[in-house]
Amino acid sequence: MSTEFAQSVAEGLSADEKWLSSRYFYDARGDELFQAIMASPEYYLTDCEFEILREQGDAIAAVLLEAGPCEFIELGSGDGQKVGHLLDALHRRADDWVYRPVDISANSLELLAANLSPSRPWLRLDPIAGDYHEVLEGFTPGEARRVFLFLGSNLGNFGEHGSIDFLREVRAAMAPGDALLIGLDLKKAPEIVLAAYNDAAGHTRDFNLNLLARINRELGADFDLGQFEHRPEYNPETGAARSFLVSRQQQSVNIAALGQTFVFAAGERIFMEVSQKYDAAMIKALCAQSGFQPGAAFYDRKGWFTDQVWLASELAADAAEKTET
Ligand code: TRP
Repeated sequence: MSTEFAQSVAEGLSADEKWLSSRYFYDARGDELFQAIMASPEYYLTDCEFEILREQGDAIAAVLLEAGPCEFIELGSGDGQKVGHLLDALHRRADDWVYRPVDISANSLELLAANLSPSRPWLRLDPIAGDYHEVLEGFTPGEARRVFLFLGSNLGNFGEHGSIDFLREVRAAMAPGDALLIGLDLKKAPEIVLAAYNDAAGHTRDFNLNLLARINRELGADFDLGQFEHRPEYNPETGAARSFLVSRQQQSVNIAALGQTFVFAAGERIFMEVSQKYDAAMIKALCAQSGFQPGAAFYDRKGWFTDQVWLASELAADAAEKTET
């Protein structure tokens, strides 16, 4: 892990436009800060999706359980705060299902069990600690009816090509009759998006800076955290919200584990992460290009966020093959 981390950091900081991989955000401190972001008043995504799952959970459950018993596989479940209302709605409707949260962080999965299980003695919880890709590869389509959950607009963190590749990986683990419930953040006024990634309490700033602290700690670097400014940008045309750390002055940073020094010009940026915002046309294209057919779509009252059911059908599988060639 540490070598992989070191390699990724070396690659990112050697690039013309420096970058760091958001894969490494989630150490123990990162998990904690991420929870604080989700709970901050500016971070509307959580509230919107909560509202959808709380108020329309029964309608969503009806659609997802229509075809009978199944496994719910949540990809990137985190500590399970989001999914509680949905599980309750599913339980009101049927009890022939299992909930299998998948997360790279074993720590988060423990928190999830502690958050969800005590008040839900009926919950059949079967957590899987691991990387999305490996877990998806381990599934044989058709061995059980599966409904995948991918909430919180986490798709938007994969980048344009990464998103389609990821959706196709999910599709490849599915058989006709399986479904995906996907949560996507919608395009909206720039000031609302920007505030969500620049909360007044500074949790998002600290979350980004924590990656530099982690490089200091684990790779023996000497980043001066006070010399980097957190700066989110939003392009309302493309819908891309990007986070950068900007060097406040010309400086050099030594990373002992790499035996390398990296120079930052004043104002030079490190690209940290993209959080893509979508419109109807983009969603339709993503769905078709990755081999799904659109099913029911649910929106919050403000129309800022959507949770949608995408279906894996024979027809969609053919379409996926055609777009691949
Ligand atoms: N997928 C969510 C989003 O894009 C959550 C998230 C991922 C996030 N990385 C983040 C939120 C970094 C804030 C900062 O908003």
